[in-house]
Amino acid sequence: MSRTDGLDPRLPAVDLTTRARDLRELMDDPDCDPRVLARTFRRFAVVNALVSGWRSVWRTHVAPALPASGRGRVLDLGCGGGDLARALVRWAAADGFDVEVVGADPDARAIEAATRSTPRGVTFRQQSSTELVAAGERFDVVVSNHVLHHLGDAERQGFLADSEQLASSRSLHSDIRRSRSAYRAYAVGSTLVAAGTFVRVDGLRSIRRSFTLPELQDVLPAGWSAERASPHRVLAIRDA
Ligand SMILES: C[S@@+](CC[C@H](N)C(=O)[O-])C[C@H]1O[C@@H](n2cnc3c(N)ncnc32)[C@H](O)[C@@H]1O
Repeated sequence: MSRTDGLDPRLPAVDLTTRARDLRELMDDPDCDPRVLARTFRRFAVVNALVSGWRSVWRTHVAPALPASGRGRVLDLGCGGGDLARALVRWAAADGFDVEVVGADPDARAIEAATRSTPRGVTFRQQSSTELVAAGERFDVVVSNHVLHHLGDAERQGFLADSEQLASSRSLHSDIRRSRSAYRAYAVGSTLVAAGTFVRVDGLRSIRRSFTLPELQDVLPAGWSAERASPHRVLAIRDA
């Protein structure tokens, strides 16, 4: 018999004690409705701005890892619709840095959404981390948002190994920290922004797939560390 979590009668009780690593997101279906997908990419820009905490992570973890000259290159791996890449260039300029940001994603649908807006200093490329390594690319700082939970174990190890190769100063991967309170907060808050998109279903599935801090610590290779970030975030960090 299905129960509810007491906050939303349409929200079935879910087990958050273990990672739901096999749960698929609606966006991952190559046959999903392209109009809903395009709306979802745009709406995730709003969600990311509200929940991902990158504004402070830029100040505490990205800017300090850039060259002292203030000029640098940042790679956003798995850039999706490109909102983080655009925000990084904006924040860098506001804080007196001259930063070029490349957003890369192997998914053509993501790059199509991202390239609808390419402010000065941002470029988007349809390439995977492995293709960027093969091309001999190097960046001062390599970041990602919401990619770690998305990958299977072997893919994640490959992604982190690629990130190590690509970053000359720091790799920094931010993701959701799985908890009952994160799930409840998103279940309630996402109803305000989810209409006509996959934002609610995929966001809730992402939380179920995401790591707790000890789980992330366990799967990170040597040389990496995991940090808790507020309010419901984890960071995987490696300094070159
Ligand atoms: C859940 S989405 C996150 C998108 C975006 N960063 C955001 O926060 O909205 C994960 C993205 O990672 C991309 N991805 C998966 N493996 C990758 C790899 N090896 N290199 C670059 N991107 C990858 C996928 O194509 C997908 O668009």
